[in-house]
Amino acid sequence: MRRHLQAVKPYQSARDEYKGADGVFLDANENALGTVGEGNFNRYPDPYQMKVRTELSRQKDVNLDSIFLGNGSDEIIDLLIRAFCEPHQDKILIMPPTFGMYLASASVNGVELVEAPLKPGFEMDLPLIKEKMKEQVKIIFICSPNNPTGNLMNRDLVIEILENFEGLVVVDEAYIDFSPEGTILPLVKSYDNLFVLQTFSKAWGMASLRLGMGFGNPEVVNVLNKMKMPYNVNGLTQQFAYEALLKADEKEEMVSEILDQKKWLYDSLNSLSLVKQIYPSDANFFLVRFDNPDQVYQDLIVEKIITRNRSRQYLCEGCLRITVGTKEENQTLIAALKKMENE
Ligand SMILES: Cc1ncc(COP(=O)(O)O)c(C=O)c1O
Repeated sequence: MRRHLQAVKPYQSARDEYKGADGVFLDANENALGTVGEGNFNRYPDPYQMKVRTELSRQKDVNLDSIFLGNGSDEIIDLLIRAFCEPHQDKILIMPPTFGMYLASASVNGVELVEAPLKPGFEMDLPLIKEKMKEQVKIIFICSPNNPTGNLMNRDLVIEILENFEGLVVVDEAYIDFSPEGTILPLVKSYDNLFVLQTFSKAWGMASLRLGMGFGNPEVVNVLNKMKMPYNVNGLTQQFAYEALLKADEKEEMVSEILDQKKWLYDSLNSLSLVKQIYPSDANFFLVRFDNPDQVYQDLIVEKIITRNRSRQYLCEGCLRITVGTKEENQTLIAALKKMENE
């Protein structure tokens, strides 16, 4: 951790000092009368999200003190970089093409990037990573399944990196509910330097509520707790996430429907001559190669169908990233692409 953080005394919120639920609460300068409009939002939320974390601990089989919750995984990515990387000195290692937030957070914090690009076929380049990790790298970000390529990273290679790197290895599993067999979460118990990120934004369908999960070494969790804003996860989010966890079977049903749709979308895209290649995906999207991606992207926008143009990213030449939508949305997409083929 950055040296100055060792001496930081975290802000003690009113709700840190008294833990009980009942009482006359005159400690936090809230409005005791209630809330303007609907709902009861007049009290500050639990700064350590005990209900959600306790339920997560049970469901994920991870100790309570190994769980950190953030305002989206995005917040956790930022906190990790700020906790461990001295600006203009320490670096993070990423493997392009990958999720843009690692770069964005590093830049905002004055932290330099070291890149070890994926190999064609989108697997990690271990010899290159081993070479590059020597460059004052404090955190290695591995995105698995990777955004935008969609593939899970090879588990043996992840383990090899964990065993050869002294800094933190962050494995971002935002899309893991779509390929749950690929998770490396259980390894958190064996590797002190592993930190796994998951999110409520994808399979749980709660992107707007902003809730990211971090699992790892309790010492790392402690550092993040020291640094975070006291009430970083709002009360509504805590309540909805807790209720959602009790209905995990609903998430499984949605995932299963999305995977059915994914199969239909794959077959339909595959039958189009416009489509040159569909990369294998372990997530809820496909990276799809076209001869003229900018034209396809623009023509889809005219039809009010929005995809993500990744064609200027390394190894993604010609590619759009397309999320699996509802049955109707997927049919609309395929109909629009068919129309383009016939024009
Ligand atoms: C790989 C990856 N990690 C993290 C996130 C962000 O997750 P959250 O909504 O929890 O901040 C995304 C969102 O697209 C993502 O693709």
